[in-house]
Amino acid sequence: MLLGVNIDHIATLRNARNGSEPSVIEAAKVCLKAGANGITAHLREDRRHIKDIDIYALRKDINCRLNMEMAATEEMQKIALDLLPDSCCIVPEKRREITTEGGLDVANNPEYIKNFILPLINNGINVSLFIDPYENQIEAAYKSCAKYIELHTGSYSSAFGTDLEESEFQKLKKSAQLAQSFGIKVNAGHGLNYDNVKRMHQISGLHELNIGHSIISKSVFIGLENAVKDMLLLVNKI
Ligand code: PXP
Repeated sequence: MLLGVNIDHIATLRNARNGSEPSVIEAAKVCLKAGANGITAHLREDRRHIKDIDIYALRKDINCRLNMEMAATEEMQKIALDLLPDSCCIVPEKRREITTEGGLDVANNPEYIKNFILPLINNGINVSLFIDPYENQIEAAYKSCAKYIELHTGSYSSAFGTDLEESEFQKLKKSAQLAQSFGIKVNAGHGLNYDNVKRMHQISGLHELNIGHSIISKSVFIGLENAVKDMLLLVNKI
């Protein structure tokens, strides 16, 4: 199982003072030195954290697997086709949300998603669809020709330690199995932390976890390299 570290919040901190520190590029280098398998960054329509200059620098200055999270818009498709990240994760985006709130509604329009992702796939980008763990979304992802999905672990993470944990976990597990039965590779992410990540080993065949907030939060106290290493210890046990 691979670990992609989402470094959006390094940019959030930098943008708080409109300056240059902490450096997104330095952060990516530290994550990779610690053993992260890739770097994930979300270029949002409003550029609230990662900016164009960051995503291009991540691609050009650093030799790593780069996963670009992006909305299914014409602007983002154009940037992705120019940037050619190793992978793109297509997410829904609402302007007022604090972070990505729900999964992409592929079931509502699989044809649109198919037409959107095909040029990316044809240019060698591994495209994943960030979806909620629902059967209809998995089936729609298959219809839209997606080869990867990223299961939204937000509901599981919020339910962790409560009566709802088991049912949310089972949704993830069943969805992963269904997707894998269609030949789709399964990633997961959102809200995962040093406690709730441990159950991910109970989902067989997970390809990659994308984790940001908990790692960056822990780095405030123990440093980014140690925070990534600690997460890797948990992910690699899987
Ligand atoms: N995966 C996707 C698609 C996301 O949108 C996010 C948040 O940007 C993450 C993973 C990482 O979530 P978190 O920061 O809660 O670990």
